[in-house]
Parts: sequence; C-alpha cells; structure tokens
Amino acid sequence: MKHIVVLTGAGVSAESGFSTFRDAGGLWEQYDVNDVASIEGWYRNRELVLNFYNGLRIQLRNAKPNAAHEAIAALEKNYNVDVITQNVDNLHERAGSTRVLHLHGELTKVRPENGVYDRTGREDEVIDIGYDQCSLGDKAPNGQQLRPHIVFFGEAVPNIEKAIDLVESADILLIVGTSLQVYPAAGLYRYARAGVPVYIIDPKDVPVHDSRLTHIRAVATKGMQEFMDILAS
Ligand SMILES: NC(=O)c1ccc[n+]([C@@H]2O[C@H](COP(=O)([O-])OP(=O)(O)OC[C@H]3O[C@@H](n4cnc5c(N)ncnc54)[C@H](O)[C@@H]3O)[C@@H](O)[C@H]2O)c1
Repeated sequence: MKHIVVLTGAGVSAESGFSTFRDAGGLWEQYDVNDVASIEGWYRNRELVLNFYNGLRIQLRNAKPNAAHEAIAALEKNYNVDVITQNVDNLHERAGSTRVLHLHGELTKVRPENGVYDRTGREDEVIDIGYDQCSLGDKAPNGQQLRPHIVFFGEAVPNIEKAIDLVESADILLIVGTSLQVYPAAGLYRYARAGVPVYIIDPKDVPVHDSRLTHIRAVATKGMQEFMDILAS
C-alpha cells in the first residue's frame, strides 16, 4: 500500500466550528498570542493561560469532526496513512484516524510544569483530563502545578524528528488548512523525496513556490473530495 502522509493545520477544523489562528474572527483575535501561547505568557499569568485552554476544551467538547476529517480517516481503507497535525484538537482521532502525531500538543491533556516532558519529550507524566477544567492549584503527583500539554511558542517541538521521518517516507504528501507560517512545521514538506507529489488544500493563496506542489483552492471538505477524485483518476 502507498504511504500517504497528511499534514494538517487549523483550517481542517474550521468547518467544525473550531477557529483558525490567523483568519478574521479567529479565537486568537480575542487574546494576545503572546499572553496565552508562549512560555513567557505562562510564567507571567498562569491563571489566564489555564482559563484560555479551559475555554478551548469546552469548545472542543461541542465540536464534531467534519467531512474532511472523515475523508482523511477513510483513506486508511486503501492506503497506509499517517496524520501529522499542528492542531491541538482531537477531531482526527474522533473521525477514526488511527495514527495521529500531534506536533503542538493536545488540549485534552495536561502535565506538570518543568516535568520530564519539558526536558526529554517523554510523555510519562502526561495526564488525560478529557474535557475537564484545570485550575491554578491543581497539582501533578510530583507536587508541581499542572499546565496544558501544549507546545508554547518559545518551546522545542519534541515530535518534529518523528514528523520528518514520516514525511521522508511518504509516497504522497497532502497538506490541509495550514498557513505554512509556523515553524518548524511549515518547513516539513521540504523533506518529501524528489518526485513525491505534494497537494495543498487551502481556500487562500499559499506562500510557497515549489513546482511539485498542486494547490487545490477550496475549503477542506470540498478540497478533500477533489483530492479523492485525483487519487481515483
Ligand atoms: N484546531 C486547533 O487545534 C487549532 C486552532 C487554532 C490554532 N491552532 C494552533 O495555531 C497554530 C496555527 O497554525 P496553522 O497553520 O495550523 O493555522 P493558521 O490559522 O495559521 O492557518 C490556517 C490556514 O487554514 C486556512 N483555512 C481557513 N479555513 C479553511 C477551511 N475551511 N478549509 C481549509 N483551509 C482553511 C487558512 O487560509 C490558513 O491558511 C498551530 O500551531 C496550531 O497549534 C490550533
């Protein structure tokens, strides 16, 4: 079976009612990214950061996977599929994708601040809280304050090496709904082997000029239909 690697960003979840980062009306417009998504912001005001992610968890509980998540999951019938996502939601898993690598963490999980993960990327101390709230004063078994299991700006991206290995072994690379502006994830497509077709689904212009790249200019649900037609042709 051919290996399809799918790299997704906030755009794949937009039609599920989960805001994108940079589009008008995005959740992030109501907050300063430096306050809620950076490691400095965390140490400046933990309560604000915890509240922000508590709000996102409620939003995620009410969101549902859309037809694009479902189409990506359905690719597994005929292909060997790995999903690499910048998203912190769990909509790929809920749609049925079985191999999902989260580059920027997961909303439904927390971990101790300054724990093992921060030094090694090992997930031993990561706790799945589902859609529960996490408050100031909530402690991990090691006595440290719990923090969101999110890769903040200013932190390393421990799963990037695994992601590079996956992209290097892809026969087809599909990118859905990412502005390719947040590094190191934005540079991942460059690891695709020569001759590997690269498709990108996004309703807007993409700031990438690469002759291997086919831009499917559509929202994720429509774009996935077009992509499936291309695969079938
Ligand atoms: N769902 C989530 O988990 C979520 C949501 C917001 C932000 N984030 C975080 O913010 C960062 C933002 O980076 P990013 O590149 O993923 O997102 P981004 O917001 O920077 O870019 C989103 C891209 O999706 C496109 N888009 C908008 N609506 C779309 C649709 N219906 N179908 C297809 N594409 C659509 C936009 O044109 C844009 O290019 C990520 O690191 C991620 O961790 C995650």
